[in-house]
Amino acid sequence: MKFFIDTANLEQIKEAQDMGILDGVTTNPSLMAKEGITGTDNIMKHYVNICNLVDGDVSAEVIATDFDGMVREGEALAELHDQIVVKLPMIKDGVKACKYFSDKGIKTNMTLVFSAGQALLAAKAGATYVSPFIGRLDDISTDGLNLIAEIRMIYDNYGFETEILAASVRHTMHVIDCAKLGADVMTGPLSSITGLLNHPLTDIGLEKFLADYKKGN
Ligand code: E4P
Repeated sequence: MKFFIDTANLEQIKEAQDMGILDGVTTNPSLMAKEGITGTDNIMKHYVNICNLVDGDVSAEVIATDFDGMVREGEALAELHDQIVVKLPMIKDGVKACKYFSDKGIKTNMTLVFSAGQALLAAKAGATYVSPFIGRLDDISTDGLNLIAEIRMIYDNYGFETEILAASVRHTMHVIDCAKLGADVMTGPLSSITGLLNHPLTDIGLEKFLADYKKGN
């Protein structure tokens, strides 16, 4: 299972990268705005900074909602760095743009996916990644994890190579449940990754080992 971090915060990206377990980064316009990164030039520079920090794929989202605009923006994003994955919204022109980029060998991430039907369209269009937003489904009392299970079954039925990127992951149990269901990738905040470290028995055990070592030295 690949671990992506869902942030545009360079310190947090570096912290996850330094642990040696990070496989990539996802961003979106809201995450950029949260870091105070505004204006096309600054956003483009920030994508390059992120790519220079990590080894894996970095999703960069288009703003346009029409085919020509998405192609124009996506091509400019892909030119920035070979780690860039063009992130496209799950609308008709987004699917069309996804097919365009996959035919050209440019990696894509279909975002804002909330149903199995949408995930099927993403796979048909040759998306590299499909991003079902499980946390946002949970927010409206709909089982986000069930969507991961449905997409896994559909993709396995037909051997689709599109990777299931569980997005809108909010906490450690989302990560563990996505792993059980066979999601290829998860993207979440730093806390959903570092939280996996926590166990009181680890802390108690370590404290005891160190105390016993000190007794004999
Ligand atoms: C995915 O790529 C999105 O950036 C993200 O996971 C959305 O998460 P949120 O629902 O917590 O905003």
